[in-house]
Amino acid sequence: MQHPLIVGNWKMNGTLGESSLLARKVRRGLKGLTRAEVVLAPPFTALIKVREAIRGSRIQLAGQNLHWESRGAFTGEVSADMLKDVGCRLVIVGHSERRHLFHESDETIAKKVVASLNAGLKPILCVGETLAERQSGRTNEVIERQLGVALKGFEKSVIRKIEFAYEPVWAIGTGHNATPDQASEVHAWIRDLLEKQFGTEEALACRILYGGSVKAENAGELMKAVGVNGLLVGGASLKAEEFLQIIRRSLS
Ligand code: PGA
Repeated sequence: MQHPLIVGNWKMNGTLGESSLLARKVRRGLKGLTRAEVVLAPPFTALIKVREAIRGSRIQLAGQNLHWESRGAFTGEVSADMLKDVGCRLVIVGHSERRHLFHESDETIAKKVVASLNAGLKPILCVGETLAERQSGRTNEVIERQLGVALKGFEKSVIRKIEFAYEPVWAIGTGHNATPDQASEVHAWIRDLLEKQFGTEEALACRILYGGSVKAENAGELMKAVGVNGLLVGGASLKAEEFLQIIRRSLS
């Protein structure tokens, strides 16, 4: 079984000074925790600083978003090659804030997944339902559509190059995390869908992270939930000690 993957998504937070300090604190606190795979996703402006702060450690760097073209007249955008160049190994794709606040469609997200894979970046592909979708019993259908479009036409071998994240929109930044049972249920559905498309062996080898109001106090129980292989942490990853606690609890 793979090690748990813990991703800190800093979103639009952090000056250069703050980012560098936070990364150094996480690095220091991780000494001895060899079983954790930790990824930091700072804003674009801080990527270089964070890269310097984590150089030589096992922490990996991720972008929070990318454009699907590799270069050109796309004001305000950043390509997969640029993220690679600055030291990223992964990139978050399809985060619900991108889907909902910036109106990214399933098709846009699919193009971003392809672009990151082509550049040798591992996409962290996020899927999740809104509260209204859950309340109307459409969770499975929404996840199936989001995954189906993003993975359309992929070869079996590609699937191990992707990390998956279930992030219910109603749980992100609200303080209301999914219960371990709710997470397990949707993770099982995601794995079923992967199995249908790519076969049992591939589906079992995939990591599916949970994200949405993860804190030190709920990290342990969420990680114990069946089918949860890691955590995508937003707000709580901005506090070094809390993030480190989350990592420690995911390992216990
Ligand atoms: P949150 O965000 O932990 O602040 O709820 C999670 C995410 O958006 O990835």
